[in-house]
Amino acid sequence: MKILRGLLLVSSLAFCLTPSFAQQKTIAAKVEALLSKMTLDEKIGQLNQYNGDWAATGPVTKDVGNKLDAIKQGKVGSVLNIMGTNHTRTFQEAAMQSRLKIPLLFGQDVIHGYSITFPIPLAEAASWDLEAMERSARVAATESAAAGIHWTFAPMVDIARDPRWGRVMEGAGEDTYLGSLIAKARVKGFQGKGLGNIDAVMACVKHFAAYGAAVGGRDYNSVDMSKRALWETYLPPFKAALDAGAATFMNSFNDLNGTPATGSSYLQRDILKGKWGFKGFVVSDWNSIGEMIPHGFVKDNYEAAEVAIKAGNDMDMESRAYIGNLAKLVKDGKVNISLVNDAVRRVLTKKFEMGLFDDPYKFINPAREKATMNQPENIEAARDMGRKSIVLLKNEKQILPLSKDFKTIALIGPLGKAKWDLKGAWSTDVDPNENVVSIYEGIQKQAPNAKLLYAEGCKVTDSVSVDFTEAVETAKKADVVVMAVGENIFMTGEARSKANIHIPGVQEDLIKAIVATGKPVVVLLMAGRPMVFNWTAAHAPAIVYAWWLGSQMGNSVADVLFGNYNPAGKLPMTFPRSEGQIPIYYNYLNTGRPSQGDNDTFYRSSYIDLPNTPQYAFGYGLSYTTFGYSNISISKTTIKKTETLTVSFDLQNTGKVAGEEIAQLYIRDMVAQPLRPIKELKDFKKVMLAPGETKRITFIIDKEKLAFYNDSLERITQPGEFKVMIGAASNNIKLEKSFQLTN
Ligand code: BGC
Repeated sequence: MKILRGLLLVSSLAFCLTPSFAQQKTIAAKVEALLSKMTLDEKIGQLNQYNGDWAATGPVTKDVGNKLDAIKQGKVGSVLNIMGTNHTRTFQEAAMQSRLKIPLLFGQDVIHGYSITFPIPLAEAASWDLEAMERSARVAATESAAAGIHWTFAPMVDIARDPRWGRVMEGAGEDTYLGSLIAKARVKGFQGKGLGNIDAVMACVKHFAAYGAAVGGRDYNSVDMSKRALWETYLPPFKAALDAGAATFMNSFNDLNGTPATGSSYLQRDILKGKWGFKGFVVSDWNSIGEMIPHGFVKDNYEAAEVAIKAGNDMDMESRAYIGNLAKLVKDGKVNISLVNDAVRRVLTKKFEMGLFDDPYKFINPAREKATMNQPENIEAARDMGRKSIVLLKNEKQILPLSKDFKTIALIGPLGKAKWDLKGAWSTDVDPNENVVSIYEGIQKQAPNAKLLYAEGCKVTDSVSVDFTEAVETAKKADVVVMAVGENIFMTGEARSKANIHIPGVQEDLIKAIVATGKPVVVLLMAGRPMVFNWTAAHAPAIVYAWWLGSQMGNSVADVLFGNYNPAGKLPMTFPRSEGQIPIYYNYLNTGRPSQGDNDTFYRSSYIDLPNTPQYAFGYGLSYTTFGYSNISISKTTIKKTETLTVSFDLQNTGKVAGEEIAQLYIRDMVAQPLRPIKELKDFKKVMLAPGETKRITFIIDKEKLAFYNDSLERITQPGEFKVMIGAASNNIKLEKSFQLTN
């Protein structure tokens, strides 16, 4: 009974999605009352974030003294990398010994699951399933909130068109429209019914901004782009996350057009807090305030702190520039106290909204922590998210799904029995006993009557020729071969950019040797990025792109291999044929000499040694069934800017098994100033169809779908001809219509 009353009380204090006006007023009054009692040092303490006692996710600052003492002195407002109720309790108890007893905020990179690891975000994006992605973030939030965490540094919403960049695995891929919807879904998932609820964590949208466009795909590198590209391609997912109620933002390591993002008033004050009216707070990235010194933007931490606070960076993650310099900057008259007050207000407001002043230990309940982790329905959700994320790239002669009549299956490749790698980078590893299902175990469970043989063949990183005899002999004994090859866990993620994104080491040679046996071969590719694998694409009969799917990976993969689940994923990023094609993306401009094949030299905007087309295009992915697109109609052939247009078509399952298709709507503005891309994704529908079933699908095109930024950064539409394209992939348009837009 007592517990029930406690729960009711907690939920009555919690907010529905966003606090009401009355709740905001009450909190604002409490914040002002507290602020008026704070010394300057205590205020600066609230803006200081230290690394905790789990891992370091950046270069460690040495000799920082005793952190618990600093907390007791009110010098710390937040701690990151701290997990579990016993750790967080120790730190929160220290905060409760400070003069004003202001609770700490505990932050953590809960990027794709907490105790249960879900697929890496890029893999999840391949599902195009917004509800499933929201659910994945919900599970992560529920588990991490029960472990004392208040705040996740996710979602990462950086648009990324360069697969060399190791951090592509953390985002939603290359497309702004899809990325914006996913950003929203993830924020909703993390924040649940609203801050203050016991299972909601604050989202932190990152990295503001344009980090995904780092030159050469090298981490931490510079970005130079037009403001129009920034607004059109890179900012919309941030705005979408903000509209979904994201509580906080993180700035980024890169400079943007010569100004480090952390020191950019344009990004943080003019856009985020100004034009967009963001009321939450901005945290720096790890030491990104201090890193303005090696950038060459400021000469020391004193200047760095001044630039950062003026630019709108509220909290300092790990650079100690604020704690060491802000008080002096205020006393020297360089920084107006109102800037410090504004930043502190923003931080305190979130602490009030989270309910931490009512009960600083609200999220710290060991019994709840134990009861919440690894719930069977959440493990099932991870398995489902996993199979939804898989993309079937090739399936010649319908090798897949594997026949139940196969008596002997050979699993070959260095990742066949891997476990830890399957979790992918940025997994929390909170539970060392977490039961990760390997590919071997997944296959074994679903083919109990088949004999399962295994040969490693080579290591992921073997780079000299390896004797493949054992692997080849093993393949020869089997009716079918599944190859588990790709990257290891250390090959994508932060600071893991690669110049060579081919399947690592000699693994493609292993594929060649196994395909040469003439046995039916299914190549299962595992990676945190698009890889290059031309020989395999041309010669392997079946290819499944399985990314990193987390703890349930073996089960998710086996569900697809044995046809218990019909794959429906579509690529959220273009797969190049060669690193030389990068950056490569589907929504490019046509140029004045678009490639017309290789016959006319001067029309060859492609390379002389490669076509412009990718190996696999954005939006591509197969199913065990086939789909027919027909009977397109549009509601009008001319519309005014105030009107909408309806596009309809029939989608039919023309194969023999039930399956889902992700039908995609692309639009092209045929003549525009400035130029528009050859096509842009503007909508999609994921539709389940029984064999033979037909559904009429409808998309509504409104003004926003036709709008773009001009050089003055105004959002405009221009009259003229538009093409509507319906397709199964960006390079597989099935139906087309044109219409005119008038004023
Ligand atoms: C990363 C952030 C991350 C932070 C804290 C940084 O190195 O860029 O994405 O949230 O560390 O772990």
